[in-house]
Amino acid sequence: MAAQFAMVAAVLSCLLALASCNTEGDILYKQRLAWKDPDNVLESWDPTLVNPCTWFHVTCNNDNTIIRVDLGNAGISGPLIPDLGGLQNLQYLELYDNSLNGTIPATLGNLSKLISLDLYENQLTGEIPATLGAIGTLRYLRLYENNLTGVIPTSLGNLTSLQELKLQKNALSGSIPSSLGNLKTLFFLKLNENMLSGTVPLEVLSLVISGNLTELNIAKNDLAGTVRSSGFRVILTRIVTAIITVSAIIQDKLKTT
Ligand SMILES: *[C@@H]1O[C@H](CO)[C@@H](O)[C@H](O)[C@H]1NC(C)=O
Ligand SMILES: *[C@@H]1O[C@H](CO)[C@@H](O)[C@H](O)[C@H]1NC(C)=O
Ligand SMILES: *[C@@H]1O[C@H](CO)[C@@H](O)[C@H](O)[C@H]1NC(C)=O
Ligand SMILES: *[C@@H]1O[C@H](CO)[C@@H](O)[C@H](O)[C@H]1NC(C)=O
Ligand SMILES: *[C@@H]1O[C@H](CO)[C@@H](O)[C@H](O)[C@H]1NC(C)=O
Repeated sequence: MAAQFAMVAAVLSCLLALASCNTEGDILYKQRLAWKDPDNVLESWDPTLVNPCTWFHVTCNNDNTIIRVDLGNAGISGPLIPDLGGLQNLQYLELYDNSLNGTIPATLGNLSKLISLDLYENQLTGEIPATLGAIGTLRYLRLYENNLTGVIPTSLGNLTSLQELKLQKNALSGSIPSSLGNLKTLFFLKLNENMLSGTVPLEVLSLVISGNLTELNIAKNDLAGTVRSSGFRVILTRIVTAIITVSAIIQDKLKTT
């Protein structure tokens, strides 16, 4: 009788543990099913384990919740599922250099502890979700070399911990939001090889003085008309000559007269 009771209790607590602990494993397993994985890098993602902490390419903290997913250059293809936004303690989402396609889910804006979102060198399409502007912890946002369209969300100006914003080699259009001038922590701002138009906001240029910006690359966009305006040229020259710490402001060739 006592033995039976103990067994029932063990099974119950196990079920409870599964219910409370494997939510994150369920999310990643669902993502595994949505991906093609020709190199079998996801073979260890076994949903029958109590939690995903022993799976390859997954790192947990001491509370057995996921803080990293490292699948750069892993040969995977397919979509990002919106459920990924449920990985509440995720700090690093490293999925660069794969063949991911479809859109970036707006739910990723729920990853309130995210430090690094690396989705560069994939085939993602659609717009950059404005919800990403809610991730105050974000330091690295690298979405370059995809096929992203639409505007750079104004909300990215809320990312006041951001050190790298790399959106180059997409098909982004519209103007560069002046809100990016809030990003005093930014070291690298790469927007080259898009279809951006309008003027480069003074707020952004002045980050060279008021912030940490050391590389601003705006080459190969549709900014040419404004880049050639004398007002812009004067201001840019003043910044370049005043600030010796700037290593590069790369842009389309300026007319000198
Ligand atoms: C993603 O790629 C797969 C395989 O090429 C294709 O079947 C699917 O339609 C693509 N999805 C999107 C949203 O482009
Ligand atoms: C996550 O984000 C989406 C879209 O931004 C939102 O609709 C949803 O309510 C959020 N989910 C949770 C669990 O916070
Ligand atoms: C992305 O853009 C490149 C270059 O324009 C193109 O070759 C490729 O087919 C596009 N991929 C998708 C998934 O749209
Ligand atoms: C983020 O930025 C947008 C647009 O600049 C603003 O309307 C919004 O209130 C900000 N959200 C947060 C959470 O700071
Ligand atoms: C600039 O970078 C330095 C060194 O990383 C850091 O200590 C400082 O707080 C940064 N400045 C701003 C305005 O973020």
